[in-house]
Amino acid sequence: MSDTMTKPLNLRAEHFTGNILGLGTSTPRLSWQYDGVVPDGAQAVIQITRNMPGVSAIIETAEVDAVQNLLHPWQFAELRSREQVTVTIKLVTPSHSSGWSEELTFETGLLHPYEREAAFVGPSWLEGETDHRHLPLVRTEFRLKEAPVYARLYLSALGLVEAEVNGNKVGQDILTPGWTCYDHRIECWTYDITNDLHAGQNALGFWLGDGWYRGRIGFKGGQANLYGDRIGVFAQIEITYADGTCESIYSNSWDSTWKTAPGPILHSDLCEGETYDARLEAEGWSKANFDDRDWLPVAQIPFDNQKIQFPKLPPVRETGSHPIVSVSKLSEDANGKTSWLLDFGQNCTQRLRLHLHDLQSGDTVSIRHAEVLNQDGTLAMQPLRRGKQSDVFISNGQDAFWEPRFAIHGFQYAEISGWSGELSAEDVECRVYYSDMEPAGWFESSNQLVNRLHENVLWSMKSNFVSIPTDCPQRDERLGWTGDIALFAPTAAYLYEVSGFLSHWLEDVRHEQQRVGTVPFYVPYLRLAEWSNPQAIAIWGDAAVLVPWAIYMADGDKKQLKEHYYLAKAWVDEVRTYLSVDGVWDRKPQYVLGQLGDWLDPSAPADDPTLAITEKELVATAFFAYSCRLLASMVQELNVGADEGTYRKLAEHVKTGFVNRFVKANGLMTSDSQCAYALAIAFGLLDDQENLKSIAGNRLAELVRESDGKISTGFAGTPYVLPALTETGHLKEAYQLFLSEECPGWLYQIKMGGTTTWERWDSMLPDGTVNPGVMTSFNHYSLGSVADWMHATIGGLKPVEPGWEVFEVNPQPGGGIISAQTAHQTPFGRASVSWKLDKDMINIKITVPFGTTARVKLPRQDEILELSGGDHQIEAHY
Ligand code: BGC
Repeated sequence: MSDTMTKPLNLRAEHFTGNILGLGTSTPRLSWQYDGVVPDGAQAVIQITRNMPGVSAIIETAEVDAVQNLLHPWQFAELRSREQVTVTIKLVTPSHSSGWSEELTFETGLLHPYEREAAFVGPSWLEGETDHRHLPLVRTEFRLKEAPVYARLYLSALGLVEAEVNGNKVGQDILTPGWTCYDHRIECWTYDITNDLHAGQNALGFWLGDGWYRGRIGFKGGQANLYGDRIGVFAQIEITYADGTCESIYSNSWDSTWKTAPGPILHSDLCEGETYDARLEAEGWSKANFDDRDWLPVAQIPFDNQKIQFPKLPPVRETGSHPIVSVSKLSEDANGKTSWLLDFGQNCTQRLRLHLHDLQSGDTVSIRHAEVLNQDGTLAMQPLRRGKQSDVFISNGQDAFWEPRFAIHGFQYAEISGWSGELSAEDVECRVYYSDMEPAGWFESSNQLVNRLHENVLWSMKSNFVSIPTDCPQRDERLGWTGDIALFAPTAAYLYEVSGFLSHWLEDVRHEQQRVGTVPFYVPYLRLAEWSNPQAIAIWGDAAVLVPWAIYMADGDKKQLKEHYYLAKAWVDEVRTYLSVDGVWDRKPQYVLGQLGDWLDPSAPADDPTLAITEKELVATAFFAYSCRLLASMVQELNVGADEGTYRKLAEHVKTGFVNRFVKANGLMTSDSQCAYALAIAFGLLDDQENLKSIAGNRLAELVRESDGKISTGFAGTPYVLPALTETGHLKEAYQLFLSEECPGWLYQIKMGGTTTWERWDSMLPDGTVNPGVMTSFNHYSLGSVADWMHATIGGLKPVEPGWEVFEVNPQPGGGIISAQTAHQTPFGRASVSWKLDKDMINIKITVPFGTTARVKLPRQDEILELSGGDHQIEAHY
């Protein structure tokens, strides 16, 4: 009896989607969803098949409460390293059984430091001190008595690495191992290479790059050799034969089988680009029986293997490609060498893979990349600063397919010069890269400009979720600016499954907090120019609270929240010591820029984004009050013993200080700005004084009307201005602001052809020229935080309880939009709302995942309707 009974589906281990290798825990929590109602008293039977490589499997089962299906604690004996697990689950009642779910398989990594026996090995010659060093290759060979039944490569590097086995690239990941605070930890990735090995002689080859480890990082000259000046690969190969015997191969410098030589990559810098000389290729270098007599023995680079970790986040991978949308020949010389301008139609993080042909040995093909064009049609290179994104290929006279390995670019346009003859579309592939997260959010409406804006938000997120959350993917910056993600985290958590990705990064935020004594401006932190002295500043530091909270609302993972709780608490405990007695944060941070406040508000001069119209102390105090409130909620959720009351009281104190200092007797604020009212309302700082709240709402709406619907907020106010208008009953003005096509405004960027969200409202000026400020990017996610309002207010979907156990459905049509739909993949399954206006009726379709409750509020009605799992349709007067 199973056909009609609710069945478990979408099994997951921790926050990974799908089958995974190299899990870093011996007690993975399991989650699953249901495709129907779970009968009262039903149990879930979890069946695991577990085995060590080459050893026969053991089957174990556990019966658990069926409705404890989110991050269910591991019910079995702890897993050992390398253990392979297959899980399936069924639902049972005394009389019925659902049948087994689809299987999930995973495998643990090397859980104990003593099992990571390889060493980091790299070049043994004297290298240049910094920058543009000739990059090495590393290789080894080994004999296998027969083809293995199981083989894994555990791979990491100081620097960046790409591996080849018997001439074939291993996996599809790039920029391995990713950027972490290497002084603290480094990631090790696991690859199944069983099918790449054979009986007899085999070879392994490794490309090494400088990457974040020793490459030049950051602006104003940046810094090189941040973590060390020697790069090296960590490779541990573990093999099992059919008879159960095992063999291991470790990178090392003592058995003289690991060798190194300079390779074809002359130099490579993440932002500057890569230069490759095909004349230096050594045919067959990663295949067996290659003559490496003139290669040098490798050198060992000391590194503490205790710092090796197995990742929580997905790898950076190719996730798609963009075809050329237009190509034009720029020039041709007497030798038939041509140059071309290519447009790929989409700005994002990508790289070109070229088919190079008809070249003579020594011929050079160069590629430059830019986000936008100058008005004369040339690439706008000036915003890139040192990050000039230029790759060079030097031919050996043979046909080749080539893509840079250790550089990555943010661009829409590319210029190729030195090409031989005509360029055809088949010669160029434009591959898109980002940390391969699972999509979790969708939105569409009847307004095409709005839809494009939403697309742009997605693209800016993808472009900047590359190993860590960065500000921008193109110029010489690409840092994990804490403020940007503090503001964007709720949007990110709706659009993609980011629990693993952001939680992974937060571990480094905590590390840096302990290392430098505060939450620094960006993480990983390095001393750069005026940012050399880390100081507590609002919003950027508030990332310590806002990011963990945003993830928690999305995934409901208390264990993870608890890990981040100490980060959040330390931030709040630090800042409380900076408050004046009245609770206002007005003490100036001890570095030249001070509080950044409503950074990049559109009234600030192009060369001084800190000159915003809203008082910095007001912004800082508002955010701090909000952080205190969220911290108190964390204490409540976690039951961690610390005094919830202490933080509630602190939140009250700061709130009172805020109102006394920044709200005048007549209800207007000392900074009469959109940002000031937005923060006061959205953070609930006026909630106990309804009259003040309504004055603030009215004034905010008036400011919007007075400015003809133009926005005047920067980073700080932008996520909150539309929610504040909506909450105080000014939906009309919210839509007016949102839909304005004038500069500054979201849709202005669309009108100007933007395919990503920009750093400045006017990164491109109305006359089509690029903003001359020294800081102009066309790909920052921060202003895209508006998508959170789009999902909640236009679409009508928003979490109420952590993990979406309870969520709100409250579409609020306006601005001439006549239909919209949005969906989110909650931990329980897909929630969606789709509505359509038809004369005076509204038709709403709602999908509620099983195990959750939707609180539905229909437009212009006060009543709240509660819906549980299933598909629902409602028709109402509008
Ligand atoms: C970055 C920002 C960052 C800011 C801090 C900029 O250069 O691109 O996004 O938050 O500096 O002031």
